[in-house]
Amino acid sequence: MLLDGSGVWRYRELILPAPERFVVTRPEGNTNLYPVGIENCGAGRVGHRQIGSYAGLERFFLKHEGENPTGSFKDRGMTVGVTMANMLGAKAVACASTGNTSASLASYAAQAGLPGIVFLPATNVAAGKLAQSLAYGARTIQIEGDFDDAMRLVEQVCNELGIYLLNSLNPFRVEGQKAIGFELLQQLDWQAPDWLVLPAGNLGNTSAIGKAFRQAYNLSLISHMPRIASIQAAGANPFYKSFTQGFAQREKVQADTLATAIRIGNPVSYTRARRVIEESDGIVEQVTDEEILAAKAVIDRAGIGCEPASAATLAGVRKLVAAGIIKRDEQVVGILTGNLLKDSKTGIPQTIGGGSVKATIEAVRSVLAQ
Ligand code: F0G
Repeated sequence: MLLDGSGVWRYRELILPAPERFVVTRPEGNTNLYPVGIENCGAGRVGHRQIGSYAGLERFFLKHEGENPTGSFKDRGMTVGVTMANMLGAKAVACASTGNTSASLASYAAQAGLPGIVFLPATNVAAGKLAQSLAYGARTIQIEGDFDDAMRLVEQVCNELGIYLLNSLNPFRVEGQKAIGFELLQQLDWQAPDWLVLPAGNLGNTSAIGKAFRQAYNLSLISHMPRIASIQAAGANPFYKSFTQGFAQREKVQADTLATAIRIGNPVSYTRARRVIEESDGIVEQVTDEEILAAKAVIDRAGIGCEPASAATLAGVRKLVAAGIIKRDEQVVGILTGNLLKDSKTGIPQTIGGGSVKATIEAVRSVLAQ
């Protein structure tokens, strides 16, 4: 069946048994699980081992969701969300976004022939992501405010105009994102890792992967639930703050971080994600922008590359290993959520040292001799 080529629809019995004629798929998923631990990285991956050394882990994998069709994990949820919109006969679809959800919505809406509307903060959206929404032809509305303002407005507009909302509030988005969990478990021959570590913003992905593990465990596909560690940027840390108070109180913050994908102060999937952390004996950690940039440089230099928010995963792993919370010999899977090219500015040199070189062999020789 055609749908078996998708890393989402392959698991449709656990996601959404939609009739094939409605399914909108690129296809998505089938992303690499890179062995990058000191011990498991294997021959021919000396560069990748640098990541394991930086983390301090012997058995460590990175699953690169930036290898999806529009360059982020959002495609996994969007294929299911837009399929549902198709089944319901929606007249248009919309979302608020820090850039990746909107890029994905724009692409899948275009494929389905549905009008797409995206609400973005007027500033702090990486250029590559904005370019995708515009190129794919979504109606792009820049709000003079932050993501939390855009989220509030899109909910109101969808209610008023009967537009189908495709933020992770939408349960079918979360259903699709569960496939990250199923796929990584399958890649590990259904041997669940000790830990799953991921960046956390609006908390849809924490909710989704937690739900996937719970389902896999209930179906006896795995023998234990991995512990989930959600990593926030220290400047956008409402979930972390609540966690440190035993979730006694729900916090909102004024968010600011250079990892603009997770620049969110009032996450919509808070309650679901809280349940995942509690049920999996998980943890919420925060990392500074400096730690994010340092981790990103390690991932980039290993030849894998990712966008800044994704690097929170490695920064968080390193911090949790140093604190003795993740043990050096435990098996850990980290999620890289977005592609390097999404944000080609943050943490990447914008000039080439020494500038350009004359087009003569002498000039090139003298540069290389330095
Ligand atoms: N990493 C990247 C690259 C993201 O784009 C996002 C969220 C996250 C991590 C956090 O995932 O929200 O499920 O906790 N991006 C959303 C967007 C908010 O609009 O693209 P989350």
